[in-house]
Amino acid sequence: MLATQSNHLTFQTFMQAGPYVGYSYSYPHKTAYREFDCPRRLAQLWEAEKRDSLFLYVHIPFCEFRCGFCNLFTYSQPTTELVSGYLRAIRRQATILRREIPNVRFSRLAIGGGTPSFLSCSELEDLFGLLGNSLSLHGSAIPVSFEVSPGTVDVDKLRILHDFGVDRISMGVQSFAAHDLASLGRPNEQASILKAIALVRDIGIETLNLDLIYGSDRQSIASWTDSVSAAAEIQPEEVYLYPLYVRPLTGLANINRTPSDHRPEMYRAARDLLIDAGYTQLSMRMFRKRDLTTNTGMSSLQPDYRCQRDGMIGLGCGARSYTAACHYGTNYSVKQPSVLQTIREYTQNSDSQFGHAFRGFDLDEDERRRRFLILSLLLAEGLDIPEYEQFFGSSPLVHFPELQELVELEMARSDGARLRLTELGIEWSDAIGPWLYSHRVRQLMSEFLWSE
Ligand SMILES: C[S@@+](CC[C@H](N)C(=O)[O-])C[C@H]1O[C@@H](n2cnc3c(N)ncnc32)[C@H](O)[C@@H]1O
Ligand code: SF4
Repeated sequence: MLATQSNHLTFQTFMQAGPYVGYSYSYPHKTAYREFDCPRRLAQLWEAEKRDSLFLYVHIPFCEFRCGFCNLFTYSQPTTELVSGYLRAIRRQATILRREIPNVRFSRLAIGGGTPSFLSCSELEDLFGLLGNSLSLHGSAIPVSFEVSPGTVDVDKLRILHDFGVDRISMGVQSFAAHDLASLGRPNEQASILKAIALVRDIGIETLNLDLIYGSDRQSIASWTDSVSAAAEIQPEEVYLYPLYVRPLTGLANINRTPSDHRPEMYRAARDLLIDAGYTQLSMRMFRKRDLTTNTGMSSLQPDYRCQRDGMIGLGCGARSYTAACHYGTNYSVKQPSVLQTIREYTQNSDSQFGHAFRGFDLDEDERRRRFLILSLLLAEGLDIPEYEQFFGSSPLVHFPELQELVELEMARSDGARLRLTELGIEWSDAIGPWLYSHRVRQLMSEFLWSE
């Protein structure tokens, strides 16, 4: 693992590990979190924080089935008692959060998992009711995103989502080909995909995102581009293209499957196809319909929230929360018995436990700069240099002279106002992100025990 290598490793040397080192959807990664020496009171952690534009993430750790590629914190086929106990615990946690962290204004809500659409209609009503009652949250006032898998969607559930104000549905399609779904260890949902998409369109939810995965060892490039074309024909507002990672403890890892060597070609073919079909590339994975983006490439509907800058509060087991100087969350597990045990413990948490953080990561000034740099640079719009200077007092090229190498390798370009990845750099995003991790984060990640 790269974690033991020094921060001074050149990118050219780092590149020997290939373009697929890790997905930096946040920084630091949750495998860098550890138990705190003593529990931290949430009221104190949030006391000095800006609280007028927070992101609320609600984690629903339940699914119909466990997919072969998935290492997310989720439990398949839970009993109705487990689900209702979980929703009751979320309600208690929300009440305590409100007490511990007063005067909060949420500017965005995402409900993810797992598969939140696994919940029944009455469970969804419970969930939205508790968000309204305990946190005074109403979806009509802010952007609300909700994750679904095609087989769990029906018209009654979508109506409840729409009535609450959900305006973005993110659907895990993964592939339109039965053979490719099987090679990912995903049950065949082919028949439900088009039906679910039609229902989302009929009900009038504004934004539809489709997730696709490329690079199982049994997927051909032709079959992959067929799936991307099928997605483009539907013209969803957004498409996410995920390169397959075979992660420890997953079904695919257990049967010794490895990703295809053709992921770079698959990526390029899909990127070109989506650009031809009227999409703008916003990052290595993210594409959005061109008429919905501004000149800088970002959404014209972009909410007043920047993940590089603003805080996040997580509700539920497996959710993380971020203040500027401290990220925290619950322990992380993959194997089904430990996931079940962690969920049961969560449902039995005392009010005092909900009012404290037990495990996480403290970000010093260097880590805060890295977070801002990594999360900005990996977007096509790049790093806003004056904004960085305003936050951190000096140029990012002074704090991170190693960035110059990316420029020399023609992976990044600066016009003085922005540092942006080039087409080649975007292709290497999953190496550039981890290359910029601090030595401490790499060390902690490499020491994380993937046993449960
Ligand atoms: C939060 S997940 C789950 C969404 C939903 N539960 C579903 O499966 O339909 C979001 C996306 O991450 C992607 N993903 C998850 N694990 C992956 C892996 N090991 N390799 C590549 N992509 C992955 C999938 O495309 C998935 O839809
Ligand atoms: S990919 Fe989605 S449906 Fe499959 S196990 Fe993971 S969270 Fe559940």
